[in-house]
Amino acid sequence: MPPTLYSEEQIAERVAVLAAQIDEEYAGAGQLVLIGVLKGSFIFLSDLARKLTIPHRIEFIAVSSYGDRESETADSVRLLMDVRHAIDGEHVLLVEDIVDTGHTIAYLKRLLGTRNPASLKTATLLHKPDRTEQEVAIDFLGFTIPDVWVVGYGLDYAERYRTLPYIGELPPEMR
Ligand code: IMP
Ligand code: MG
Repeated sequence: MPPTLYSEEQIAERVAVLAAQIDEEYAGAGQLVLIGVLKGSFIFLSDLARKLTIPHRIEFIAVSSYGDRESETADSVRLLMDVRHAIDGEHVLLVEDIVDTGHTIAYLKRLLGTRNPASLKTATLLHKPDRTEQEVAIDFLGFTIPDVWVVGYGLDYAERYRTLPYIGELPPEMR
């Protein structure tokens, strides 16, 4: 199994802190719409949402994932599945597993921003600043990590390791 970068306990602690920050940010704002970016965010979103005390509803959106990592550019992000309900006038929090180059989150912020939400912010469990190609503000951040491939807690490598309970660093020889 891949060596541990963040244990279940470390993740749970951090997710609780993020949930408290989000509770505080949106206190009194009415219903928050959490939009999880499939597939990677599904475990983070479910843990985060269950820690929130503010009213919220859940939506999912899906975009193309890396087939060939190196060919991913701003133009190659594609929408595979849209949210089910309109978000105009709503407070929206986009929930990502990881921000790598920033293209996915930039694309989604642009797309959702055209729909006139009352506000649009982003939460991501992980961020690899060394890989940034497109700068996008991250409002709620779990952990900053170096340029390594991480798996578990929703994150995969070719669909493997997604349901590991911890976040592991996948060494090149395991790819
Ligand atoms: P970006 O568009 O380059 O920021 O990539 C974001 C997406 O790439 C994430 O939502 C993940 O699906 C995927 N990704 C990037 N780095 C990793 C990683 O280390 N492990 C698993 N998936 C990753
Ligand atoms: Mg993803």
